[in-house]
Amino acid sequence: MLTTTATLSSSSASQLAPLFHSLSPNPISLRFSSTLQVTNNRARRTLTSFTRQKCQLPALRVSASYEAAPATAEASTVPSEMKAWVYDKYGGVDVLKFDTKVAVPKLLDDQVLIKVMAAALNPVDFKRRQGKFQNTDSPLPTVPGYDVAGVVVKVGSQVKDFKVGDEVYGDIHEKALDGPKQSGSLAEYTAVEERLIALKPKNLDFTQAASLPLAIETAYEGLERTGFSAGKSLLVLNGAGGVGSLVIQLAKHVFGASRVAATSSTGKLELLKSLGADLAIDYTKENIEELPEKFDVVYDAIGQCDKAVKVVKEGGGVVALTGAVTPPGFRFVVTSNGAVLKKLNPYLESGKVKPVIDPKGPFPFSKLVEAFTYLETNRATGKVVIDSIQ
Ligand SMILES: NC(=O)c1ccc[n+]([C@@H]2O[C@H](COP(=O)([O-])OP(=O)(O)OC[C@H]3O[C@@H](n4cnc5c(N)ncnc54)[C@H](OP(=O)(O)O)[C@@H]3O)[C@@H](O)[C@H]2O)c1
Repeated sequence: MLTTTATLSSSSASQLAPLFHSLSPNPISLRFSSTLQVTNNRARRTLTSFTRQKCQLPALRVSASYEAAPATAEASTVPSEMKAWVYDKYGGVDVLKFDTKVAVPKLLDDQVLIKVMAAALNPVDFKRRQGKFQNTDSPLPTVPGYDVAGVVVKVGSQVKDFKVGDEVYGDIHEKALDGPKQSGSLAEYTAVEERLIALKPKNLDFTQAASLPLAIETAYEGLERTGFSAGKSLLVLNGAGGVGSLVIQLAKHVFGASRVAATSSTGKLELLKSLGADLAIDYTKENIEELPEKFDVVYDAIGQCDKAVKVVKEGGGVVALTGAVTPPGFRFVVTSNGAVLKKLNPYLESGKVKPVIDPKGPFPFSKLVEAFTYLETNRATGKVVIDSIQ
């Protein structure tokens, strides 16, 4: 690791400490007396610019070494206010405002405070913002964002499994539609119950990890609820989206599916095959109702339950994430669950299951409106991720 050494007064070092948590995906050490070490290039570049602007320091003296620094992070480094995206009325992307003085969420006993390194968008974020769930939503104003990957900077008094410095990921809202928190993950800091998160897979960076929680938990819960198991066949409607791209992989590489078919438009058929689909169906050219085969389970991630029930075997299962439900299809709403992430971590760490991130991203924090506008086209491939949260 590259070590950058700068000579700072202890007050400047204190001022910089929170910044470093947002910059370095690796452990950093702060020597508050006179020397400060940063362990990656991006952190070094930003430190140079930040220290010149804010601390009126001369250019940094840079020395390269590859010594790993121990992780240190203390509650005292957490500010009372943070930057966050907020909306105070329901509507289109124009209601989203960038605010530099949002209160850092207060911790409950069973929660950890996470310094957000990356966050991902889900369709539920824009549906919530549009007011589709306002009967069960928390009061406005809202900081949006379900998915997070970041570093624990503070733990509540009852937290047992996580400590300051842990790199974690998760979906911070236990019930997606029922009383989600007011303060979400599209902010510098977010608070979440320890039972909803897991340690970040070691091989994934924060951007990759942030792409996973809500989508992979939905994929897993949907397959479990249908009773999916080894040797069964599956059809995924919308195999290229955030959820479907993980349904294909989990079915094939975790549950042991005998055969997976999935739908997308023409340009995404190769992606479906690369994820493990045995049959990639171009929905712009083929009607699934005319397929010569039927499936044990159909996973509808687009809202075509009426068609899905026509291609399931007698006694099979049809799970529908959105839209009208036709029996025997059923709908569920995902429950965030850190234990599911923990269970799937070995598959992520072995590379059997991979994050799929839309190539238009990751979007920087400042481009959230553009990221939402893109997601709302319903054309995103895999996940739309936000990073550079500072
Ligand atoms: N109930 C729950 O707990 C739950 C949880 C998560 C998500 N959801 C819902 O499930 C849906 C999918 O979520 P997501 O995050 O996977 O969405 P997404 O990533 O935004 O889906 C985008 C994908 O949809 C594909 N698509 C569009 N029209 C299609 C069609 N007619 N047939 C097949 N694919 C089509 C697009 O591929 P092409 O460009 O190839 O068309 C694109 O890749 C959303 O409505 C979401 O709100 C529900």
